[in-house]
Amino acid sequence: MSPPPPNEDDVISQHDSSSIPQNRPISTIVIIIAMQTEALPLVDSFQLTEDLNSLFPIGTPWVRYHGTYKGLNINIIWPGKDAVLGVDSVGTVSASLVTYAAIQALKPDLIINAGTAGGFKAKGACIGDVYVASEVAFHDRRIPIPVFDLYGVGLRRGCSTPNLVKELEFKVGKLSTGDSLDMTPHDEASILANDAVVKDMEGAAVGYVTDLLKVPAIFVKAVTDIVDGDKPTSEEFLNNLSAVTLALGKAVTQVVDYISGKSISEL
Ligand code: ADE
Repeated sequence: MSPPPPNEDDVISQHDSSSIPQNRPISTIVIIIAMQTEALPLVDSFQLTEDLNSLFPIGTPWVRYHGTYKGLNINIIWPGKDAVLGVDSVGTVSASLVTYAAIQALKPDLIINAGTAGGFKAKGACIGDVYVASEVAFHDRRIPIPVFDLYGVGLRRGCSTPNLVKELEFKVGKLSTGDSLDMTPHDEASILANDAVVKDMEGAAVGYVTDLLKVPAIFVKAVTDIVDGDKPTSEEFLNNLSAVTLALGKAVTQVVDYISGKSISEL
């Protein structure tokens, strides 16, 4: 006989049970961003400089931009360009590696995973909307064996930020992550099962690592394309990328402004 399935509270990790003190002011923030186009408006906004003596292993393309902004030690980590193909190292593998390396090297109080996402118009998403994800999960790790199925979905909660989302008037919804920009019918069924309003290629991978290492994480995602619409995703994504990354930059700047001087428990 197989053991009874675990109940939801046993399987959803909560970043709030983190070993990081909840009541002292946040000091060091790591912002994980997959694409250079998404990172640069923020590098500008926070007046960060690129680290020329990398903290990371020799040979990795990972880039850190850092500086001090409103009393916070800010680090943007971009996984860099693929050494052979010269494109941004998007997706879950790079995202989890840089998140792990950045936490080990910088011991941040908070991780922010910022990026673009596809949105579901059936769930109210519009181009340019900015969402803070309440939960993150995978939609392309299908393992139809009891309990392995839940492991594949890899559901994690984001850091609880009721005051931040209220004050900044962000939309809140669930984020589903997979390693493809497009969406197969299988993916779509899993995304719907995850009850997600936005889909990306990094969030749940970052969430896996932040949960392992008990670092609170906030996921901020701006919608570049409507995945249940009639436009081809890659075309719509590329057409909207630069305008939406500006909206993303503005939103993440507002988040960091809000965080300045506060502790995790005040967010
Ligand atoms: N990033 C932006 N649009 C996306 C989409 N449709 N799927 C996954 N990641 C995205």
